[in-house]
Amino acid sequence: MDQKTIQELSGKILNLKKERKAVILAHFYQRPEVQDVADFIGDSLGLSQQAAKTDADVIIFCGVHFMAESASILSPGKIVVLPDDNAGCPMADMVDAVQLDRKKREMPGAIVVCYVNTSAEVKAECDIACTSANAVQVITSLPAGKSILFVPDKNLGDYIMSKTGREMMLWDGYCYTHDRLTPDDIIEAKKVHPEALVMVHPECRPEVVALADMVSSTAGMLRFARESEAREFIIGTEIGILHPLRKQCPDKKFHIASNKLVCPNMKKTTLDKVYRSLVNLEPRVTVSEEIRERAISCLKRMLEVT
Ligand code: 13P
Ligand code: SF4
Repeated sequence: MDQKTIQELSGKILNLKKERKAVILAHFYQRPEVQDVADFIGDSLGLSQQAAKTDADVIIFCGVHFMAESASILSPGKIVVLPDDNAGCPMADMVDAVQLDRKKREMPGAIVVCYVNTSAEVKAECDIACTSANAVQVITSLPAGKSILFVPDKNLGDYIMSKTGREMMLWDGYCYTHDRLTPDDIIEAKKVHPEALVMVHPECRPEVVALADMVSSTAGMLRFARESEAREFIIGTEIGILHPLRKQCPDKKFHIASNKLVCPNMKKTTLDKVYRSLVNLEPRVTVSEEIRERAISCLKRMLEVT
């Protein structure tokens, strides 16, 4: 899309947004032009906090399906729109409520913790949720001596165990985008940029995490880049994060660790779809009252701990 079309469409979106009393929330992995029309850009935790407190009538959620579902759970009565209803998260789809129920029967008494990247049906079966930003805090808050089942990201689960020393039973899920990053990618990137610090997301494999100078959620990476004395960074997370990093730290250099780090689902939301979703207030994401009632405590507990 050329610059002129982006400007025209962005102007139309900003006007229509006011008319509709809508708020636009966007994840850091969204396309740059989509992030630029958002009222709030954030990581999964920041986005849930915003969704819980907004007083807008409509939430246009530029992210993936589970994020819009969480917004709908936390803000009942509001219209939640996902500009492309095919924007899902393959990792969230690696566990469903039936499979989880079966596993829970094998582990009676276990505390069930879900990564926020799960469906509302799965959250309804869990005790507490976490994001990559607060996972260590959430696990540390749990009573000692209880067994823990963690779904669905085995890489994040592994990272939490290494930080907290708590044993957990891990589901066999992972993010295709982050799991693609290999130790060789990091080693190669370091050869090209020997002065750069390596920041990676905990959805990466443990052997990649082991090579990093810093491991954190996307919002944590931004904070670290702003505050660090370092001038150059190698980034091990989805490529969309480069946009806010370069905007917030224009005098620093950021290199993506590999061009494989693209989440096709996050890229499904285009500016054009954002505009059409404001015109039509469709496609909507809703959660049945029965599921919402059971899923909300899992998200609320997470927000209380954070
Ligand atoms: P955070 O932005 O919370 O770090 O999440 C990463 C992610 O993969 C979201 O789908
Ligand atoms: Fe899901 Fe990974 Fe894409 Fe995040 S980056 S939405 S975890 S597939």
